[in-house]
Amino acid sequence: MKTLVAYFSAEGTTAKVAKALAEKIGADLFEIVPDPPYSAADIRWTNPLARCNREKLTNKKIRIKEKVDHFEEYDLVLLGFPIWYGAAPNVVNCFCREYDWSGKKVYAFATSGGSKIGRTAEKLKPYINGGLVVGAKLVQSAVEMFEIAENLQA
Ligand SMILES: Cc1cc2nc3c(=O)[nH]c(=O)nc-3n(C[C@H](O)[C@H](O)[C@H](O)COP(=O)(O)O)c2cc1C
Repeated sequence: MKTLVAYFSAEGTTAKVAKALAEKIGADLFEIVPDPPYSAADIRWTNPLARCNREKLTNKKIRIKEKVDHFEEYDLVLLGFPIWYGAAPNVVNCFCREYDWSGKKVYAFATSGGSKIGRTAEKLKPYINGGLVVGAKLVQSAVEMFEIAENLQA
């Protein structure tokens, strides 16, 4: 069973969880980085003209810096991101669209400013071509993912 922890994090909260999780379960780690990366101004959602709000409105394709090496070798992908506008950020959907997920299980973990996980898993499904999204959980720390990850790896 080969596991990848792939994550997007604009402000570092999800990154911390992802890194601790990958280390604990012995998974590879991949950071989803948009090209160009987000600046502080880009994610200032209180500004209607900020990049995040423009991307939300237009739903346009976001370029991602690097690809995962040998993606086909992974059986399980733990996908981490902050909740943006009540779901996974567009950049995560764009990341998912770039791969063939056949035969893979996906479990999402997210951090948020207060929103619940809601229908995040269901909203991700259309982008996980051929793969199985088994669940999604809102977390504050990696510990909350350890047992789930171990069960998924069993
Ligand atoms: C563009 C944008 C949209 C956001 N939308 C939500 C939201 O809908 N609900 C929520 O609870 N938090 C929202 N947040 C807050 C983030 O989910 C929260 O701060 C998260 O932990 C940040 O993770 P990160 O540090 O890994 O980027 C938003 C933040 C940004 C920058």
